[in-house]
Amino acid sequence: MLAKVEELVQEVEGFNSSNLDEIEAFRIKMLGKKGAITALLAEFRNVPVEQKKEFGKGINQLKKLAIEKVNQLKEQAEDEASNNKGLDLSMPAEEFELGARHPLSVVRNEIISIFNRIGYSVSEGPEIEDDWHNFTALNFPKEHPARDMQDTFFIEPEIALRTHTSSVQVRIMESQKPPIRTISPGRVFRNEAISARAHCIFHQVEGLYIDKDVSFADLKQTLLYFAKEMFGEKTKIRLRPSYFPFTEPSAEVDVSCQLCNGKGCNVCKYTGFLEIMGCGMVDPNVLENCGIDSSVYSGFAFGMGIERIAMLKYQINDLRHFFENDLRFLKQFKTAY
Ligand code: PHE
Repeated sequence: MLAKVEELVQEVEGFNSSNLDEIEAFRIKMLGKKGAITALLAEFRNVPVEQKKEFGKGINQLKKLAIEKVNQLKEQAEDEASNNKGLDLSMPAEEFELGARHPLSVVRNEIISIFNRIGYSVSEGPEIEDDWHNFTALNFPKEHPARDMQDTFFIEPEIALRTHTSSVQVRIMESQKPPIRTISPGRVFRNEAISARAHCIFHQVEGLYIDKDVSFADLKQTLLYFAKEMFGEKTKIRLRPSYFPFTEPSAEVDVSCQLCNGKGCNVCKYTGFLEIMGCGMVDPNVLENCGIDSSVYSGFAFGMGIERIAMLKYQINDLRHFFENDLRFLKQFKTAY
């Protein structure tokens, strides 16, 4: 009888499996109603009295051993099964993919940060503007052909979607006293055919600086600083005479081409320069329209398209990419800004 107990102890110790069905079969074989250990317990009354104590102890140990073994193997097998379902809590976490800012936001934030560093504040205004703020105060007389430069979406005869953020600068000049140093980023609207180079909605940053003795030299240095910060230390700028109703004199600003370093290539059409913005000295009429004494104060203004700057900086050849929200395009702009 004791030999039988010993034999079963060996069997329990030797058993190993990671299969839950096999483990259950083993449990039934040993501990089930008709199991070997159960059968042995039933023999207890036939054991001679002097062996009863030793036999009882042996069989209790065997039963405990069998139960522990089955539980331990079951636990292991269940752990393994759950690992296969990806529930291993010790596994390293899956990588969390961060979103990307839209390239226009990246560039807008960069422009703002460049001008913040030289003391410009940020001002905003309404996208639906009246004729006064978008045109008349800016020295566009009624019926003046200069209004045709800005293909306007009218809502009512005197109300339109703003065609530039110069309208915000009028609001600032009307409500603040010089010195004024501010930039106005924002969305603007023009009734243009959509192409690789133009869209009916685009974004601008316009700047305004008004104080005593502000000169064209100040304007030029400010723009040179901006161009170097934006496109790199070696960047050169070039000013060409131009016309805007609200500035006199007016100029277009070009930067040296990043691709060929000004030597001439097909991007800059072999001129070595790319146009980035308009600028000029604020016309005294505009200052007077906004209640600023033009015999005391002077100022400069400039305005650029964010799309254009982004296209030059990232060598994007079609403006429509900015509005299509194609993730393959957007994902390329993961950045700190
Ligand atoms: N408002 C002009 C435009 O939208 C840009 C500009 C701003 C030009 C300030 C000169 C001075 O085209």
